[in-house]
Amino acid sequence: MRHTIVMTGASRGIGRAAAERILRRSPDTHLLVVARGASGARTAAELAAGGHAVSHVPADLGSLDSVRAAATAIRDRLDHGGLPPLRGFVGNAGVQYTDALTEGPDGFESTFTVNVLANHLFVRLLQDRFAPPARIVITTSDTHFGDLRHNLGMVPGPAWKAPDVLARVGAFPGPHTAAAGRTAYSTSKLAVIHLVHEYARRLPAGIGAVAHNPGFVPSTGLAREAGRVSRFAMRYVLPVVTLTPLATGRGAAGRHLADVVLGATPAPTGSYVDRDRVARSSEESYDPRREG
Ligand SMILES: NC(=O)c1ccc[n+]([C@@H]2O[C@H](COP(=O)([O-])OP(=O)(O)OC[C@H]3O[C@@H](n4cnc5c(N)ncnc54)[C@H](OP(=O)(O)O)[C@@H]3O)[C@@H](O)[C@H]2O)c1
Repeated sequence: MRHTIVMTGASRGIGRAAAERILRRSPDTHLLVVARGASGARTAAELAAGGHAVSHVPADLGSLDSVRAAATAIRDRLDHGGLPPLRGFVGNAGVQYTDALTEGPDGFESTFTVNVLANHLFVRLLQDRFAPPARIVITTSDTHFGDLRHNLGMVPGPAWKAPDVLARVGAFPGPHTAAAGRTAYSTSKLAVIHLVHEYARRLPAGIGAVAHNPGFVPSTGLAREAGRVSRFAMRYVLPVVTLTPLATGRGAAGRHLADVVLGATPAPTGSYVDRDRVARSSEESYDPRREG
């Protein structure tokens, strides 16, 4: 049956590979790409090649007004017959900054805004438009574990604080440093696992929520805000790591994400999918006092 999947972060990287596979594997899908600037129209046109149903809504996920406007436009299109029933939301967009001082127009720190608040706002504003069975998938990261085995020593572990502190600039020591920017990143990825747990408790039956960890995927655009050395490593050195079990190629990561979105990877609501199977996320991610 024809249905709509709303997706952020489909313009490049893991999300682009996932979007292509979703459309190939599920021809009944209308993929609604949410992207900033001109990239929405371009991405939709490229993905539509071959006759796939793809459209776009503009949004800069670093601005909550922009997210609200996008969600309103999606609701209008769903309500007025412009889109088939909503069966999925994929919150895959993500950023990592070189400090913890980047502030968006709402006065919130930008990592937390894009990686956490934008997803939450979409889920809340689209909640009553999902047509069960529906699935929400939010992209998390190995970095939420904070141990050497999962982050290869590249990203500091999360440093949990009250969400209203995490949402503001300067939440971590030495906020002008790259370490603070990366701590903001790993903490934001822990926060989305908490969100998924809470969605599993609160959303009506038939609307599932899953956190997906793509693993370490070198050669995407994620480190483009990083310094020259990190960018060089990410672009030229780390792709070699793709040949080892430590890393996942972009195509495989996209396939894994698509399989979670389409339900081809079985995953109960509230679960954490590590690449292609349900697993346990970090011990601290199961602290219910942080949720609710
Ligand atoms: N690569 C890895 O090793 C790795 C590991 C674990 C988790 N992840 C997660 O996987 C997801 C995809 O990352 P990637 O590695 O594929 O990186 P990427 O190539 O940089 O893709 C990031 C995506 O997010 C979008 N985005 C970022 N900020 C946005 C904003 N303000 N408004 C609208 N869209 C925005 C980008 O759109 P533009 O094209 O407009 O920039 C792009 O589509 C992220 O959530 C990331 O945290 C990646």
